[in-house]
Parts: sequence; structure tokens; C-alpha cells
Amino acid sequence: MSSEVKVISGKTVAEHNSRESCWIIVHDHVYDVTEFLDDHPGGSKIILKYAGKDATAEYDPIHPPDAIKTNLPPEKHLGRVEAGTVAKVEIKVTDQEKERQLRVNARPPLSEVLNLHDFEAIARSVMTEKAWAYYSSAADDEITLRENHAAYHRIWFRPRILRDVTQLDWSTTILGQKSSMPIYITATALGKLGHPDGELNLTKAAANHGVIQMIPTLASCSFDELVDAAQPGQSQFLQLYVNKDRNIIKRIVQHAEKRGIKGLFITVDAPQLGRREKDMRMKFEEADPDQVSKNDKSKEVDRSQGAARAISSFIDPSLCWDDLPWFKSITKMPLILKGVQCWEDALEAYDQGLAGVVLSNHGGRQLDFAPSGVEVLVEVVEKLGAKRGLTFPNEKFQLFVDGGVRRATDVLKAIALGATAVGIGRPFLYAYSSYGVDGANHALEILRDEFEMAMRLLGARNIKEVVRDMVDASSIHQHIVAVPEDKLYHGNYESMQSVRLREIKASL
Ligand SMILES: Cc1cc2nc3c(=O)[nH]c(=O)nc-3n(C[C@H](O)[C@H](O)[C@H](O)COP(=O)(O)O)c2cc1C
Repeated sequence: MSSEVKVISGKTVAEHNSRESCWIIVHDHVYDVTEFLDDHPGGSKIILKYAGKDATAEYDPIHPPDAIKTNLPPEKHLGRVEAGTVAKVEIKVTDQEKERQLRVNARPPLSEVLNLHDFEAIARSVMTEKAWAYYSSAADDEITLRENHAAYHRIWFRPRILRDVTQLDWSTTILGQKSSMPIYITATALGKLGHPDGELNLTKAAANHGVIQMIPTLASCSFDELVDAAQPGQSQFLQLYVNKDRNIIKRIVQHAEKRGIKGLFITVDAPQLGRREKDMRMKFEEADPDQVSKNDKSKEVDRSQGAARAISSFIDPSLCWDDLPWFKSITKMPLILKGVQCWEDALEAYDQGLAGVVLSNHGGRQLDFAPSGVEVLVEVVEKLGAKRGLTFPNEKFQLFVDGGVRRATDVLKAIALGATAVGIGRPFLYAYSSYGVDGANHALEILRDEFEMAMRLLGARNIKEVVRDMVDASSIHQHIVAVPEDKLYHGNYESMQSVRLREIKASL
């Protein structure tokens, strides 16, 4: 491509407003996406809505800034749009949005947010419906989502008394990296849906509090932006969705290693994305049926795809155990499988020489009725002990758990049962969606205060003293579905929605 950038008028761009010739503007650059329409993971309709127009506002919350450049061949980058010639895409501020803004202004001060559940309650009122649907949704009937937290209710402490608990230290080491607490911020995609700074909020809060952030493959900020924003000495991990194109993966992995990423978490529980109906319904409601049928009759089925499905069609369902030696051959970073759900697979990961596993069901977003990570932890510790003589926590093969962790007591239960550390997802999303980086910082402060109190009352002065005898997990395998009278988390766990009538347009 010549180094001279062509300047194109907004009027010319506007002429290319159809499926036959579709140009869009993103950050003042003009792209011809005609041939890309059917390959767009989010479907063609959303692009066609912006055909001939400036799509930046729609593009930004979903995509890393460089996604369009890396996905389109250079000849499709047509040039720069002439300043002042683009018709502004009118963003209608709906009454619903005005009401949301009023709720945003009515947020309580952070000092009144006492626990991580509080963030969820606030986020539900102040986030856009689309962001709330994507973040909060889980698969099918959302039974695993509920079980993830409920499982911690079936583990009870056996506290020790009369120990000198004046000095406490709950810091630890995760994959050789220091962490001020036995938690890490796990990977959650599409960070900018909740807040314009997206995952950067987490990078900053992680730096402030000395904890580790796992960067998602599908972050809304670019990978380099998040690594550049880290403080000297701040550790970061990378979560990897495996693309069918292994050259792309090799490039991503080796680049991550060069940039100092300290652990590669390969997601293995998502050969297809689960049906997250709350998210899917949102997409139905957003689509304008008239527009859809005018522009793209042939592919109406696509409309059922929520944000989640829209972004993930590149994930390779053929990924299998035989691929792991290849991963080992391309990197020296510790390799961890994220999404292991039974002891047999944990054993296989150990036998293949991996650095660890995350016992996780993806926050209840994949297979409904998959067990909670903490329940799987109990069987993994038992079986790997019996079959390979391992004891946990174990430096060489580290066990992590995520899903439903909302209190430091939850974390301590998992640590007592043998986990090295625990991943926390949604609470951080809700915290920064509601209050930006201050919210993420406050979430970590809450956890820090909870650790202090819980460890003192448990009689454990450091993480090594949080031992198996301090918990009774004998009821962990008894699955009880929460009864309706149990109102404890009613405020957060919403009833399932049903299909709704469309807006009735004709007047009587
Ligand atoms: C909004 C959202 C997006 C997520 N995106 C990803 C992802 O891109 N890759 C991944 O491996 N896990 C993803 N997860 C799963 C989390 O890493 C983690 O397993 C889960 O959130 C833990 O449960 P919790 O939210 O109850 O803490 C996502 C979870 C949520 C809630």
C-alpha cells in the first residue's frame, strides 16, 4: 500500500450503503467490509445497520481498537474520511436511557458498599440492559450459576482458638508470582460493555493491590494496551481461546511470552458457547425486524445470537489432548487448562506435565448442571492423592477454582481444600461498571478487610496455616437446588425471563 493515505468524503462513503457495496467508518478510517459481511463473527446485520456511516460508537465497546485492521486485508483499508463531511450518526437518547442515567446519579457512595454482593445489586440498576444481559447471563436455566455460590454454603469452618493472631499475612505465590491475596482477577470478555475504560480498570486496580489480572483473548482493550498499562513488576496472565488457525495462536502466544506474561490459561470448556438466553433475548429485542428483512432476508436466524455467540465463532471445537504437546513446543510459559470439571481430566493434565488446572464451569455460562469448581476440587485432591501421591496445595501442579466466589471466607474454604488461589470474575465487572477504577479498588479493599477478619477468627496467621482440618466439606456432594423460601440472594439471582410480545405499534 502506498504510504499516502487517500482522503474520502463522507458523501462518497454514504453511497456504499448496501450489501452489494458496504463501507463503514471506524475512528475516521474508511473500510470496505462488503466481502467480510458473512465472515463477521457478530453477523452481517449489525454491520449493515451502519453501512455508509460512522460505526465507531457501536464498534468500540465490543472490539479491541486494532481488530478491524488485523481482520481485513490492507487493500480494504480505503483511506481517511475527510474531516467534517460525515453525517453524525444520530444516537437517540431513549427514555429508558434517561432513566438509567438518573439511577447512575443515585448510586450510593462507595463507603456504603459493604460486600461484593452489593456491587451486583447496584450494577443491575445502573448498567445498560445489553451489558447487564451479557455479564450476568448464564447457560440454560442458570442452575449451575446458582450452584457455584451455593456450594460454598455447604462447606463449614472448624476454627482454631487461642492462637496469637496479632500479625497476619494472607499473601501468597501463584505460579511463582507474588500476590497480596490468594485470588486473581479472572478473564471476562467485552470489558467496555460495562465501562468505557474496560479491562484497564482492572489492570490499574490489580497494580494498586498487588494482585494478578488474567487478560482475556476477547478483551475490549487490546492486549498490548493492557500490558503497557501494567506497572513495573506487575504480573499478568493470559487466557487463550484457541483459534482454528494455529498460526494466529502461535503468534499470540509467543508475543504474550515476549511481553512478559507469566501464565497461559487455555480455555477448554467452550468448544461451543453455551446458550445464555438472557443475552440472546437482548439481541432479539434490539434487532429492528423491518430493517433486518430489508437488508438481509437470507440470514434471519443469526438474530438469535447474543453478544457471546457473536464474538466467539472462531473457537476451534477440534481442540484435544493431542494438541497439548504443540503448545508446550511453542512456549515456556506455564500452561494451565481453564475449565476442568472432573478428576479424570485433572489427572490427564497432570500426566501431560501441565502446570495446573482451573476447576471451573465458566461461571455457569457453558454446560448447565456442570458441578461447581469447589466441589470438583474435593474429588481432584482426593483422587490425585490416591493415584499419584500428590498433596495440595502443590507447587508443581497448582489447582485453581473459580465460580461464585463472593467472600474471603469462600476463598479460604477453597484454600483449605487444596487450591493455590481462586479466580473472581463478575464481582469485578460489576464493581467497575458501577464505579470505574474506584469500584474495582474498593472490591479489592473489601476482600482485604474480609481476609483480615476471617483469618483472625479462623486462627490462621498465614496462608500455610489454612489447612484441610479447618473445613468440613462432608456435605459438598449433596446437591440441593435452592428452595423458593431461600431469599438470601433473591435480590441478585433474577427469575428467568420468558419470551415477550413485541411492542404493539398500531393504536386501537
Ligand atoms: C461476562 C463474562 C465473560 C467471560 N468471558 C470469558 C472469556 O472470554 N474466557 C474465559 O475463559 N472465561 C470467561 N468467563 C468465565 C470467567 O473466566 C470465570 O470462569 C467466571 O466468571 C467465574 O465465575 P464468577 O463470575 O462467578 O466469578 C467469562 C465470565 C463472564 C461473567
